[in-house]
Amino acid sequence: MPARILDGKALAQGVTGELRERIAARIAAGRAAPGLAALLVGDDAASQVYVRNKRRTADGIGMRSLAFDLPASASESELLALIGRLNGDPSVNGILVQLPLPAQISTARVIEAIDPAKDVDGFHPYNVGRLVLRMPTLRPCTPYGCMQLLAKTGEDLAGMHAVVIGQSNIIGRPMALELLIARCTVTICHTATRDLPGLVRQADLVVAAVGRAQLVQGDWIKDGAIVIDVGINRGADGRLVGDVDFQAARERASWITPVPGGVGPMTIAMLLANTLRAAEMQDR
Ligand code: GUN
Repeated sequence: MPARILDGKALAQGVTGELRERIAARIAAGRAAPGLAALLVGDDAASQVYVRNKRRTADGIGMRSLAFDLPASASESELLALIGRLNGDPSVNGILVQLPLPAQISTARVIEAIDPAKDVDGFHPYNVGRLVLRMPTLRPCTPYGCMQLLAKTGEDLAGMHAVVIGQSNIIGRPMALELLIARCTVTICHTATRDLPGLVRQADLVVAAVGRAQLVQGDWIKDGAIVIDVGINRGADGRLVGDVDFQAARERASWITPVPGGVGPMTIAMLLANTLRAAEMQDR
């Protein structure tokens, strides 16, 4: 029997619908709409699409999105000065800086400059540290979204061997920490990993986050495994494909996320959930 589909689009709509109601209730109680500052530096086409979707979805649920578009030539000190102003502006509850940044800007310095209480991407060392210590508050959005999708399966993750492919700061590492909190046995694979297919074949749960079209072959997937595909790549024919060969993997998996319509919409929903959470934490 082919795998059941984990429909991220539908789940994200449910989450944003709930957020919209909570925001309306806040406003009815006399509080300001949560403010989300979305900063984009340069003209990377994919980043422009992602940021536009984030801003549009935020506005659509009653938040106030503030757009800051800086040229590709912007200096690090310009960006840091803007972040400093936004940190001090009480009408701004969340700040996100779309990555990647141009080469002349240090990503680490920029992330560390964001007030951890407004770090709705969950990338600041303070927030990552809280996740390491099992006391998460603002959690990295994509792994957090993957955990919501996994909850939808109704499966008990405790004791599962989870194999995460990719070790990035924004997906692979926080994903592994989330799965550890869920009591999985976690293996993180990366470019120096020996025998990737052999490790994936042992996995009860696979999270693919490498950004290589259809790297994960269907015959790597153990019968009944859960497959979460974080990749968004252009295939040879120009269509969007994930890091997993969906059609082949679907024949073996128990649950699988599609691309598009799986993890992607959940990332935005979790960003907005974090923004409302940040606003609530900043209430005085
Ligand atoms: N670039 C790719 N994914 C993300 C994300 O979740 N947040 C930000 N800020 N940049 C990204």
